[in-house]
Amino acid sequence: MGKDIRNTVREQYGEIASKLKSGTSSCCCGPSCCTPIINPELFYNDQLRDLPAEAVNASLGCSNPLLFAEIKEGETVLDLGSGGGIDVLAASRYVGEKGKVYGLDMTDEMLELANQNKELADARNVEFLKGFIEEIPLPDETVDVVISNCVINLSMDKEKVFQEIYRVLKPGGRLAIADILSLKEVPAKIRKMTEMWVSCIAGAMDINQCKKILSQVGFRNIEIEPVHYYTKEGLKSMTGDKSEITNEEWEIIDRAFAGSHIKAVK
Ligand SMILES: C[S@@+](CC[C@H](N)C(=O)[O-])C[C@H]1O[C@@H](n2cnc3c(N)ncnc32)[C@H](O)[C@@H]1O
Repeated sequence: MGKDIRNTVREQYGEIASKLKSGTSSCCCGPSCCTPIINPELFYNDQLRDLPAEAVNASLGCSNPLLFAEIKEGETVLDLGSGGGIDVLAASRYVGEKGKVYGLDMTDEMLELANQNKELADARNVEFLKGFIEEIPLPDETVDVVISNCVINLSMDKEKVFQEIYRVLKPGGRLAIADILSLKEVPAKIRKMTEMWVSCIAGAMDINQCKKILSQVGFRNIEIEPVHYYTKEGLKSMTGDKSEITNEEWEIIDRAFAGSHIKAVK
């Protein structure tokens, strides 16, 4: 099942990237796309200034990890699931010439789009890597900050992702992740719907489980804050008004998921 889901996720995001690249889609809205109810302008403000419109339009995140990552000049940053590169390019301005920002993504079309945006932004301290967030292609203890925006929920093996983050972080390094978490139990049926998975909902970790995994992996100073709650109306607009979900089930999933800020230190 893991590989099937991963392939479906890759195909879906490949399609989205191709549309964005060809200019046939000006934003991430549409069924089976992550969190289209979020307008990036709400979260980024000044951080989007002077970024290529192509990168901003490719935003598929659920918040802005740069709001709480406290990135400093000269640091090495890694963005997991970097998509069209919005957070990588925004972070590249914080680290400056002496720093470096890596973006990691498994989808060829997204990497092409990101590299195109890198050229447009003339960002020389940026490198996009191809690979899986469950097997990060970087050596141990080489990164100061790991950021990510609405990606870990798509992984079938969250524990492995956090172990990999811990491995590549330098001692004292930190993670600043924006992702969707579940705040209460939801019907098993929802968790099994592929379309809900690709839309970043079905794979969302329970908030307490997320804390537990982070602590088991070895992180300290763990802080998790839900910041943006998903209403049933918003979810319906993301996934289509699925007839297989009953009204009672829609009531249960109303505000059961939230875009959350996750912070921790190695
Ligand atoms: C919802 S989009 C978010 C993109 C970007 N972070 C943003 O905010 O616009 C998810 C991205 O993660 C990538 N992705 C999903 N699962 C992945 C995995 N297991 N390994 C590497 N990349 C993955 C997809 O290819 C896609 O580009």
